Amino acid sequence: MAKTKYFADDELMGTRPVVKEPVIVSDVLSPEKFQETLNTLNGYSLDELKYDRSFGRFMLKNPAGQMPDQLLEHCLQKARDIFDSQTLLPTYSCYVRYKGARANLLRHMDSNACTYTVDLCLTSSVDWPLYVEDKEYLLKPNQALCFYGEDQLHWRGPFPEKDSNIVDMLFLHYAEPDHWYFTQGPEYYQKILADTRAAM
Ligand SMILES: [Fe+2]
Repeated sequence: MAKTKYFADDELMGTRPVVKEPVIVSDVLSPEKFQETLNTLNGYSLDELKYDRSFGRFMLKNPAGQMPDQLLEHCLQKARDIFDSQTLLPTYSCYVRYKGARANLLRHMDSNACTYTVDLCLTSSVDWPLYVEDKEYLLKPNQALCFYGEDQLHWRGPFPEKDSNIVDMLFLHYAEPDHWYFTQGPEYYQKILADTRAAM
């Protein structure tokens, strides 16, 4: 595989994982926890979510201890087992609701602390496949695609029937303790964004 050019300097990226094929994991949350998660996150109105115009999606990032952030800890051991690293740590979580004419997920790698990515499907009114490195994956509710967000290109095709469909996803991200997220602090991401803009 060609060497990945990371958004941060290589030495700040920390210990890099052995990148493996993505896997779909079923029953990520217990039925009770999944229902609690749905009730909480689907209860947010669009007005309460932040609209991300570039992806045409509505987003929620809450402080530590609240939903969806509390699920980072809840799923920590599962993530360690899935990615075969007993040292990985939570970085950040995000709930997103894809809805409307601009909904999309263009081909990209992640610039934030997404070494290990758990993409959990909450609800989906339509089959909208995810692609990672040219392979197609289709998720049902409470299934997650587990892959390497900083190392594997990922995207989706056109959002079907934009007027009527909604797809709700929960992103749980993890990284190693020597990743810039922990050594420089989460705010280092702002420097990465500024450097990326300056290079464009
Ligand atoms: Fe991504």
